[in-house]
Amino acid sequence: MSLHETIIAKFQECFGEVPAHVVRAPGRVNLLGEHVDYNDGFVLPIAIDREIWLAFSPGDMDRTTLSAVDLSEDVSFTPETLLPKTDASGKDLPTWALYPAGVMWALREAGLATPALRGAYTSNVPQGSGLSSSAAVEMAFVLAWQTLGGWELPPMERALLGQKAENQYVGVNCGIMDQFASACGEQDRLLHLDCRSLEWHTLPLPNDIAIVIADTKMRRALTSGEYNKRRADCEEAVRILSQKLPRIKSLRDVSVDAFNQYATQLPERVEKRARHVVEEIERSVRAIPLLEQGDMAEFGKLINQCHTSLRDLYEVSIPELDTMVEVAQSLPGCYGARLTGAGFGGCTVNVIAREQADAFSSSLAAGYEDETGFPPEIYVCSASRGAELI
Ligand code: GLA
Repeated sequence: MSLHETIIAKFQECFGEVPAHVVRAPGRVNLLGEHVDYNDGFVLPIAIDREIWLAFSPGDMDRTTLSAVDLSEDVSFTPETLLPKTDASGKDLPTWALYPAGVMWALREAGLATPALRGAYTSNVPQGSGLSSSAAVEMAFVLAWQTLGGWELPPMERALLGQKAENQYVGVNCGIMDQFASACGEQDRLLHLDCRSLEWHTLPLPNDIAIVIADTKMRRALTSGEYNKRRADCEEAVRILSQKLPRIKSLRDVSVDAFNQYATQLPERVEKRARHVVEEIERSVRAIPLLEQGDMAEFGKLINQCHTSLRDLYEVSIPELDTMVEVAQSLPGCYGARLTGAGFGGCTVNVIAREQADAFSSSLAAGYEDETGFPPEIYVCSASRGAELI
């Protein structure tokens, strides 16, 4: 059964009727430009064919009732219970419900109608895997309330509202990349976003490569704390560097040369974090002509350099991610491999010669299991459309 069919059946089980609407919203994988979105940099994600499906109908009075099918949990909340972050009976909202509740909060803050809904959802974006399961949830709910609320916003505006929910309600100080990719994805296209101007365009994904996602299945707790610390270190770097470079607003404004000139002014940890960002922004600029020319060998080198930098300078890798990358980089057909997303566990992204993708995937699975004793999950993904009403 497809997720579409599953969610319609589950909605009927929960609510005893056919849902009025269904939306889907994808996760994403990022090829290059990691931990730069909140530094005004450039990112190169694709929306993937792993997604959340949400079936919904208008609710009763002001009560929104949701069923998280994969967790077999239900929750109800109302606009009045949003601020205390409780359910309708006064109990703390479970973590999963903070995302839809946060979306309702952000939409109401923006003056948009959020009529009560009854919804059921299921997702095959693995949680905590670096594939943006939470952004997909946010984009599905923004679209659901847009459908019932009688208003309409362009995808980027919807992405910004999802980011606001996550920053200010859930408490993760994330950038715009994930919500953007989930909202704006295009089939068979790579997205290129300038996170400062929010201008974006798409690039063709060369036909002769496959994007392979390899999930270590390792999940780390406390990721959001480490994430927020990285972001604070970047802000600290800007504060100190602006004493020498008064025009800078973010690390985007610091060239690699200027950074090298003033790096000694920074405390060691801050210097490492900022160096990753400055060099990664440079890599993501160099990537565009390479992609336009279809020079996968050179593009792949940038991907490999990104992993080394995330491991040694940004320090967001873990041994299992390093193993997955090392095994991948040693295999035929691999142009580039690195951890993707925030890090601390989750997935790697691999750019592979298409005709070798199947052999690569099985060798990677075997090699990783030999080294770690754990079977990974590996699949070839395709670039899919952004969130949509079906
Ligand atoms: C998470 C965040 C994004 C981005 C990445 C790292 O996925 O949600 O905004 O910062 O980490 O590139």
